[in-house]
Amino acid sequence: MRKEVIQLGILGLGVVGSGTVEVLRRNRESIERKIGARLEIRRIAVRDVNKPRRVAVDHSLLTNNAYDVLDDPQVDIVVELIGGVHPAKEYVLRALENGKPVVSANKELLAKEGADIMMAAGRRHLDFAFEGSVGGGIPIIQPMKNALAGNRIERVMGIVNGTTNYILTKMAEDGTDFEQALKEAQAQGYAEADPGADVNGHDAQYKIAILASIAFTARVRVDDVYCEGITKITRADMEWAKQLGYAVKLVAIAQEVSAKAVQVRVHPALLPLSHPLASVRDVYNAILVRGDAVGDVMFYGRGAGSLPTGSAVVGDIIDVSRNLLFGSGGRVGCTCFDQRYVVPMEQVETSYYVRMRVQDRPNVLAQVAGVFGVHNISISSVVQRQTSPQEAEIVWITHRAPEGAVRHAIAEIQRLPVVMEVCNTLRVEA
Ligand SMILES: NC(=O)c1ccc[n+]([C@@H]2O[C@H](COP(=O)([O-])OP(=O)(O)OC[C@H]3O[C@@H](n4cnc5c(N)ncnc54)[C@H](OP(=O)(O)O)[C@@H]3O)[C@@H](O)[C@H]2O)c1
Repeated sequence: MRKEVIQLGILGLGVVGSGTVEVLRRNRESIERKIGARLEIRRIAVRDVNKPRRVAVDHSLLTNNAYDVLDDPQVDIVVELIGGVHPAKEYVLRALENGKPVVSANKELLAKEGADIMMAAGRRHLDFAFEGSVGGGIPIIQPMKNALAGNRIERVMGIVNGTTNYILTKMAEDGTDFEQALKEAQAQGYAEADPGADVNGHDAQYKIAILASIAFTARVRVDDVYCEGITKITRADMEWAKQLGYAVKLVAIAQEVSAKAVQVRVHPALLPLSHPLASVRDVYNAILVRGDAVGDVMFYGRGAGSLPTGSAVVGDIIDVSRNLLFGSGGRVGCTCFDQRYVVPMEQVETSYYVRMRVQDRPNVLAQVAGVFGVHNISISSVVQRQTSPQEAEIVWITHRAPEGAVRHAIAEIQRLPVVMEVCNTLRVEA
């Protein structure tokens, strides 16, 4: 006989936990009709049961012992929303050992320990669903695992961190510097008190490791993802980019290079204003996926937040519930069948923006151009602006060149007596 009630055990009632409870409550009737069974929250584990909550919940549901959830035979699905690697990993593995499918929004756990978790779920034919881990409310994991599964994915490129996109939008549109824009992001509740994971690019690094692993059917380890944050972007770079017709964005890119090799990287980049990601503003996220059959597909929406991420988590809960009712758990398991080599950053080819301060003297341009030439780097454009009677600022945009060659050229240019400072080097993505 089919189950009439599915009981949820939730770990965590913070930003995403409360959004999940709110979505489940708000649309309860239609969700239950879609599943064909009732959904009940049986237990919620938190650190502190007496803490005030964003959503009102019956106090008797709360426990500060996660094992009250994980080992409760009545709990059908465990929803992990505590974050971090430990003890989240141990909790997820315990749930799976106890035969319970798991829904999680934990990008760090998945990016670092995804292999162990997917294997444990696969061994028991259980679902491990993680739509909320990338792109918040934007559906991206399920579309890539299902609707786009017939494609060979050639490239995934996205703005996957709302905090940094908000900061870069403020800098570009209001002319503020990085520190001030970060303070505003914190005041608006878009940035954590410790914003390191966002501004240094690690949050985006976890997300692109997950997306690349799905796209290329090969496990991409976090450590293989080149990662550079936005802290060195200045007001001057923003002004130059605008003048040259570019937007500056923190992009996460996973690209197939050959049947055996891929590149996976996170860094700020200049995007031409006509690029589909250039107009993604504020805390919004967008992900462009290119499949060999479908061409370009773009996903856009709120990449974080309580209700948007709650929407993704509840979508997974519905899917997993349906599988439970039909005995079809573990239908879509780990798809990392292949081995792919991640190309080191030195071998990645892009165009570059190089901004430098130089002495305003004859022959300076020729000296710098000469160094680029020695390293086989050809120049697409160069703009010079006098900043004082003795000094000028020059911005070079190169044609595509290997990163290693550009790094060597910059090191040499920095040693030229006429060059006072190479202020910044940023990649330009067409
Ligand atoms: N925030 C977002 O917009 C967003 C978006 C996408 C994905 N995510 C992911 O969703 C997950 C949750 O993030 P969040 O922002 O909701 O975090 P959060 O607001 O800090 O909430 C974490 C919750 O987990 C509970 N908790 C922590 N350690 C626990 C433990 N050992 N046992 C039991 N409960 C424990 C906390 O309890 P107390 O409340 O008692 O402290 C809190 O309720 C993370 O993996 C995050 O990366 C977040």
